[in-house]
Amino acid sequence: MTTRRDFSRTSLAALGAAALGRFSMPPRHAWQDVRVNGDRLNSHLKALSAFGANPQGGVSRVAYSPYDKQGREYVMGLMRAAGLTVAIDTAGNIYGTRPGTDAARKPLWFGSHVDSVPEGGNFDGPVGSLGAIEVAHTMQERGIRTRHPLNVVIFQNEEGGTVGSRAVVGELHDADLDLGTRSGKTIRSGITFIGGDPARLAAARRQPGDAAAYVELHIEQGGNLDREQLKIGVVEGIVGIGWWDVTIEGFSNHAGTTPMNDRRDALLAFARYTDMVNRVVTSEPGRQVGTVGMVMAFPGARNVIPGKVQCSLELRDLDNARITRLFERVRAECVKIGEATGTTFAFESTHQSASAMCDRGIMATIESQARVLGLSQRSLPSGAGHDAQHMAKICPSAMIFIPSLKGISHAPQEYSSPGDITNGANVLLQTILALDARS
Ligand code: GLV
Ligand code: MN
Ligand code: MN
Repeated sequence: MTTRRDFSRTSLAALGAAALGRFSMPPRHAWQDVRVNGDRLNSHLKALSAFGANPQGGVSRVAYSPYDKQGREYVMGLMRAAGLTVAIDTAGNIYGTRPGTDAARKPLWFGSHVDSVPEGGNFDGPVGSLGAIEVAHTMQERGIRTRHPLNVVIFQNEEGGTVGSRAVVGELHDADLDLGTRSGKTIRSGITFIGGDPARLAAARRQPGDAAAYVELHIEQGGNLDREQLKIGVVEGIVGIGWWDVTIEGFSNHAGTTPMNDRRDALLAFARYTDMVNRVVTSEPGRQVGTVGMVMAFPGARNVIPGKVQCSLELRDLDNARITRLFERVRAECVKIGEATGTTFAFESTHQSASAMCDRGIMATIESQARVLGLSQRSLPSGAGHDAQHMAKICPSAMIFIPSLKGISHAPQEYSSPGDITNGANVLLQTILALDARS
C-alpha cells in the first residue's frame, strides 16, 4: 500500500503534469464555461433538511427510519426533475441514470448518501448527493450529452458502516444483515423498508470495471480548509475503520452490602478501559484515532453494582496494519484490567473497512479543474469514512472536499456556506466533464 509519507512527498502539480502530459493548461472546451445553479442546489439542501429536522438545527435521519425514507423519496423526485431514470437496487441504493452517446463506455458514477448519524448535521452526505443531482440537472438544461453514461448514486446507510457501498462491492454478507441499527430495525428489515430485496443482495453487486470512475463531493468534516481559508480539498486517501462491540462481564450485587474489595464492577472496568484506549492510541506518533462512543451499563440502578457493560471501540488510520496492531494492544491491556477488576472482556468485530488511496489521475483532474475555476486548494487525507473507499475496489475513485466551519461535523452545528457548496458542485461538474472528454 502507498503510505501517507509517499503521498506527502508527491506534489499535486507533478501529478497533474503527469496526467496531462505537460505543465500548461489543457485547451478550453465550451463546457468549461458551464456552471451549476447554486441557488437551486442550496434551496434543495434546505428542503431536504426538513426530513428529520431536530430542535438543535440539524437532522436525525438515521438509515431505515421513516425520515430516511421520506428524504429518499424527495431525492428521487429531484432526480426525475433532472431527467434521470430512477431505480433502487436490491441493496436499497438509489440510482439515477442517463445514457451516454457511446454505448461501449462504462458509466461515470458520482453521488454520496442522505442518511445521517443520530443528532447529525445537514451537510454530511446531502452536499455530495444533491450536488451530484444538480450536476446532472445542469447538463440536462444545457443539452450536454456525455460519451459515458452517467450514474448518480445515493448509497444507503453510509453512517451505519457504509452498508450500501459494501453491498455494491460484494462485501455485505448474509450475517451482516442481522445486525441491529439505530432505527430499531435490522439491516435486513431496513433494506426491505427502503425498497430493496435482501434475499437477492447479490444482484446489487458490481464487478471491477463496471464503472469508469467514482467521484464524491463531500464536506471536509475537519478544520484544515476552514483554518487555511482554502476552497477545495483534493482527497489523497480515506482512513480504514474498525468497529467492535465490547462486552464486559462482572457480577451484579448489592451496592450497600458488598465490600469494596469484593466487587466485580463492570462499569469500573469500563472506566479503566476508556482511559486505556486513549493512552494506547496516543502512545505512538501519527494521525490514528480511537473512540469509545457508546456505553450501556446493566442493570442500571443506583443501588446495584453494574454486572455487565456493553460498549464500543472504534479505531481509524490510513494504515490498516496499524489498526490491527492497536487493536491487539487494546485487547492485551483489557486482560490486565479484567484481572484487576474481576471482569472479562469480549470483543465482536462488527465492521472493518480498509483504507483506500484515491486515484492519482482523477486527483490531478480535480486539481486542474479547481485551478481553472480559480479556487484555492490543497491535498489532504480523509479522517472520515466514505463510500468512495469501497468503490475504489472496483473503479478509480476520488473525492472533492469543501470547507466545514471550524471542522465541526456529526453534530447539528455542522455548516458549509452556500458559496462553498456551489464551488464544490462546479468542481464536480467540471471533473465529470473532463473525465468524460479524456478517457
Ligand atoms: C462516517 O461519516 C464516518 O466517518 O463515521
Ligand atoms: Mn458522509
Ligand atoms: Mn458521516
